[in-house]
Amino acid sequence: MTTIAIISPSVRRGRNSHRVALYFKNYIEENNLAQAEIIDLKDYDFPLFDERLHQQNDPSPGALEIASRIRSADGVIIVTPEYNGGYPASLKNVVDLLYDEWRRKPVAISTVSDGPFGGSQVITSLQFSLWKIRAWTVPAMFPVIRVTEAFDENGVPADRKAADRRAAGFVSELLWCIEAKVRMG
Ligand SMILES: Cc1cc2nc3c(=O)[nH]c(=O)nc-3n(C[C@H](O)[C@H](O)[C@H](O)COP(=O)(O)O)c2cc1C
Repeated sequence: MTTIAIISPSVRRGRNSHRVALYFKNYIEENNLAQAEIIDLKDYDFPLFDERLHQQNDPSPGALEIASRIRSADGVIIVTPEYNGGYPASLKNVVDLLYDEWRRKPVAISTVSDGPFGGSQVITSLQFSLWKIRAWTVPAMFPVIRVTEAFDENGVPADRKAADRRAAGFVSELLWCIEAKVRMG
């Protein structure tokens, strides 16, 4: 079965974007679209980046584990909050830590904010970094505005019908890219 890794990068106390990661996991599994797992960067507590994994002599078990999880996923969803127009340092840490693991990896980006703009400014910087590292960014958007009103702590959407309709388009683009990659070998 297709596997989708959902990266939840916020390590902030009282974080809210994690709600959207929980929603995607539930949505994907309830609709039997793929096997979904959350890669929660709060669980890893990585130190600041000091070298790429393939250049390290004594990699931490966490670094090896995350590399293996990204490598084995057929596709990735990144649920990123917007901090001052950019993406969180915790996510940059992981983008830079890995290298070959990102190559031709289909990656769909969902942006989140607690205001009215849905993290619209973070997409360009994250997309550019992923393009530089040779990932395949999927041309689909899933901006979330006013996240605490839109999803509860368990990822249950306030308006399920509207959320599911948007998720259907977003996830199907990711699955199309995953399938295209499988066909190309
Ligand atoms: C340091 C910081 C900077 C932020 N900058 C922005 C911003 O530039 N644009 C925006 O729409 N929201 C911004 N916000 C609000 C966040 O989008 C909102 O707090 C969101 O819930 C953050 O995700 P998190 O709760 O998972 O950490 C910022 C929040 C923080 C903590």
